[in-house]
Amino acid sequence: MYILLMGPPGAGKGTQAEKLIAEYKIPHISTGDMFRAAVKQGTELGKEAKRYMDAGGLVPDVVTIGIVREGLAKPECANGFILDGFPRTEEQAVALDGILTDLGIKLTGVVNIVVPDAELVGRVTGRRICKACGATYHVEYNPSKVEGMCDKCGGALYQRDDDKEETVKNRLHAYHSQTEPLIEYYKKQGVYHEIDGLQEIGKVYADVKASLGALK
Ligand code: AP5
Ligand code: ZN
Repeated sequence: MYILLMGPPGAGKGTQAEKLIAEYKIPHISTGDMFRAAVKQGTELGKEAKRYMDAGGLVPDVVTIGIVREGLAKPECANGFILDGFPRTEEQAVALDGILTDLGIKLTGVVNIVVPDAELVGRVTGRRICKACGATYHVEYNPSKVEGMCDKCGGALYQRDDDKEETVKNRLHAYHSQTEPLIEYYKKQGVYHEIDGLQEIGKVYADVKASLGALK
């Protein structure tokens, strides 16, 4: 299963990817996670990416395409993957088509989780993430049992640097101007599915799975 998860910041891509990888045991390739790991390690890539992420803009295509090409070439991706947060521009989408052709892979489906902007700011500013295992929570919609502590591993929860209200607005702008046009791109390829992301997390997951079933 070769899946692409699309949607604006806070739509629930990471939340749904967590469920898919647990059930289908396929790798999760998230460009956002890759950049955050590079920032944490203090690499040159991390230093460059941080400038764009902190402003809520997109990291340059040439950098992003390079790390995805490397990630997808790994043997563990041969039998399936969930690509989350990539592509985000038409240049990235065209590059991805080339990478997949080189690897002899055809996308199973593109699942777009649709959520209106009015809901997204609250979702992103209320998000908390486990430092140890990366599990995602929300202070209101999906709280951990003990405040500030991960249910799964006991790790401490933190807020992402780019989850401030001002930055979220810039990220939404980047989404609408640069990423949303890809909906037409994938509709033309006949692999596009849309999910109502305003439903509760379990129901969104049921719809994601139903759309994947329809794509098999
Ligand atoms: P990235 O990490 O990809 O962030 P994003 O796309 O902005 O998406 P988020 O991680 O914010 O949201 P999500 O959809 O995963 O939502 P989540 O499941 O956590 O990218 C970060 C930055 O990296 C970018 O701004 C850019 O600078 C750079 N970057 C990354 N990829 C790039 C690329 N390809 N090109 C260039 N630059 C790139 O859910 C959000 C919250 O809502 C959580 O608290 C969750 O618990 C809650 N929630 C989830 N589902 C529901 C629900 N159904 N109901 C209620 N609450 C819910
Ligand atoms: Zn944890």
